[in-house]
Amino acid sequence: MTITIGQRAGLDTIPPYRQGAAPKAVDGLAPFKLSSNENPYPPLPSVVTAVARAASGIHLYPSMSADALAAAVADRWGITAGNIAFGAGSVEVASQIIHAVTNPGDQVMFAWRSFEAYPILATVAGAEPQPVPLTPDGGHDLKAMAAAVTARTRVIFLCNPNNPTGAVLTAAAVEHFLGTVPPDVLVVIDEAYLHFNDHPETAVGVELFRKHSNVVVLHTFSKAYGLAGLRLGYAIGTPELVAGLRKVAIPFAVTALAQEAGLASLQAERELQDRIDVLINERQRVHSGLLEAGLPVRPSGANFLWLDTGVHTEDLAGLFEENAVSVRVFPGEGIRISVGTAEANDRVLAIASQAARLLPRHH
Ligand SMILES: Cc1ncc(COP(=O)(O)O)c(C=O)c1O
Repeated sequence: MTITIGQRAGLDTIPPYRQGAAPKAVDGLAPFKLSSNENPYPPLPSVVTAVARAASGIHLYPSMSADALAAAVADRWGITAGNIAFGAGSVEVASQIIHAVTNPGDQVMFAWRSFEAYPILATVAGAEPQPVPLTPDGGHDLKAMAAAVTARTRVIFLCNPNNPTGAVLTAAAVEHFLGTVPPDVLVVIDEAYLHFNDHPETAVGVELFRKHSNVVVLHTFSKAYGLAGLRLGYAIGTPELVAGLRKVAIPFAVTALAQEAGLASLQAERELQDRIDVLINERQRVHSGLLEAGLPVRPSGANFLWLDTGVHTEDLAGLFEENAVSVRVFPGEGIRISVGTAEANDRVLAIASQAARLLPRHH
């Protein structure tokens, strides 16, 4: 007899998290994965050495306080170790925030479309997602978000730059927003793509955190530092919030390998900056090329570009697939293309030159 284990109410309404697809194999073409906003560079040799050294200790549990890494992160941002809570990627830290702050039925607000984990994490934690549509140009509609705050809204995510549209929130806009939301609502500034954001007027999470006790900042080692596979991210928040995050965190989720790799990456920041500079230049090159090809590409402060292709999205997606490039496709909405190596980006531009004929001319 098969016994069916019951599931909690509502579980079947939670969409599974979709990982960026692998590229399709096409004869004669090198495949490129531009669907997950990963860093296209391999890890730095100093980082590989640090991880290899840490490998000899993997029969032991990692340090839960991650003291050495916490000291380095604190030093990097001019804060204290008591302001930092680590997790297995910033997505786990986002989950900690919702678990630590919300009661069942409380609301978690975010712009939509934004990072697809937000509604999933909120629902899993027993909270209610509160999506607020983006402005037509792909930015946060902060006015609508402020107006949508209810007595049950406990957490608001601001994604800067926004995944997947690349739009940047200015410091002035976020300061104004913080002046309009109740001071007991926690505002999370998710800066996963911070290092690629060269917008002169951008909001800067750490500066906002210093001025506002209801601000918490999310950083990750997955993108600019190139450690997506090791899972390391952190929150910068008040000591009270951080103490709560540590309580709801899964014990030992941050491995010693991740801690050592994070430390080595902070020590190699100058070397990593050269790569970041190249990726920013490549983003500008691809952006210009896509515009010249007549495609509806948005300005971006991140390591990806957004094509606002609407109803033409699937036609265009097919072209990428045929050319061995995987991108993130949002049917009926648009396509997000990560910035890759120069070779991968050249392929994107070659696809773009064929793609324009599928679309009405962009103005
Ligand atoms: C906006 C945003 N936040 C957080 C994350 C999570 O990254 P990780 O968990 O690898 O730190 C991502 C990853 O794609 C992201 O786009």
